[in-house]
Amino acid sequence: MSTANEKRLSSPVSVLPDVQFQPPQLAVIVPSYNERDNIELLYEKVAVALGSTPWEMIVVDDNSPDGTAEVVHELSLVYSNIRCLRRFGRRGLASACVEGMAVTAAAYVAVIDADLQHDEAILPEMLRKAMDGADLVVGSRFIEGGSAGEGLSETRLSGSQFATRMAGMIAGQAVSDPMSGFFLIRREAALAAAPKLASDGFKILIDLIVTSQRMGKPLTIAEVPYTFRPRHAGTSKMNPLIVIQYLGLWVSKLTNGMLPPSFLLFGLVGGTGVVVHLAVLGLFSSTFGQGFLLSQVAATLIAMTWNFVLNNNLTYADRKLRGFGLVKGLLSFFAICALGGIANISVANAIYQFDHHTMIAGLSGAIMSSVFNYAVTRAFTWK
Ligand code: GDD
Ligand code: MN
Repeated sequence: MSTANEKRLSSPVSVLPDVQFQPPQLAVIVPSYNERDNIELLYEKVAVALGSTPWEMIVVDDNSPDGTAEVVHELSLVYSNIRCLRRFGRRGLASACVEGMAVTAAAYVAVIDADLQHDEAILPEMLRKAMDGADLVVGSRFIEGGSAGEGLSETRLSGSQFATRMAGMIAGQAVSDPMSGFFLIRREAALAAAPKLASDGFKILIDLIVTSQRMGKPLTIAEVPYTFRPRHAGTSKMNPLIVIQYLGLWVSKLTNGMLPPSFLLFGLVGGTGVVVHLAVLGLFSSTFGQGFLLSQVAATLIAMTWNFVLNNNLTYADRKLRGFGLVKGLLSFFAICALGGIANISVANAIYQFDHHTMIAGLSGAIMSSVFNYAVTRAFTWK
């Protein structure tokens, strides 16, 4: 018996094809962070739901301290269709999904949360719709037959509805639940968009839809309703930082990708840095009665450190510097910002010489140094 894979090999291999082997038709990707007590139950439920469909589960775990990866390894010793892709020194839901998709050879990939909030029972129907021709099938809480159930608190529900409306503005296509983390997609369609996705997001679905459109390959979308359940074990990873990152993604998509999400966050952080700078300057000069020069030096150092800490935790949360790397990073950030300051003054001065508009010259200098600081710290400090 020959398999499709065997036919494609250019040179004959000496091993015989495994006649027992059934290539997976569907890969179920499970992004996980501290989900130790959910994985086994999820595996069992998905196995029951999918019955005789050939499938595999790929858990993409960011080296969870609770030992999620070990639990997956134990399951891999019992079942042949589950494995763990363990990432080190990385965090991020969207990139975890993409890397899981890249690992499988299955023609269809589904993304499902580890915490059992998504109803695995609709997976067969999602797969059917994809095989009938949809590129993307979204599990939806907001169409007839679906509901957000008990799965969201009241605050989360209104936040989610607001975010859904914002997503609707950039989606360019009708989709009732663009914030859903539960969907099934043709692997090739997902991987075609993958190089252009924002790597540091929490919300991959809306990004997949918008990016595919911009690439001239809009996805045909189908939806299947389900009821969002409360989390089984463990705690949610949603936090205010993720909300801000989502805003960055949204503005980036709204400006047609001209402004990368991280530049917006960098700019936002810079704005708070100006406030800190002025506050420290005022404190040192009036309250402590220090001279202007000393106060300005103190304000600059404190504002730069403030910017560094915020950027490290917010803009570059996915590649956060720690330990000795943090010290090295801070020093390189100082050095680059000093160069940015020189760039600022020289550009401003050149423009001032040209037409003597103080404000225009000052603003150009500030923009120059922001872009310089952004580009250079991205390349050196948070590479
Ligand atoms: N690998 C990896 N890395 N996985 C992560 C990370 C990460 O940094 N952060 C979260 N996850 C995993 C979680 O372990 C879980 O399996 C899944 O992503 C969703 O995270 P939750 O912490 O359960 O998030 P949530 O319940 O607040 O949000 C979910 O519901 C939203 C709908 O309201 C997500 O599914 C969203 O995508 C969904 O839109
Ligand atoms: Mn959840």
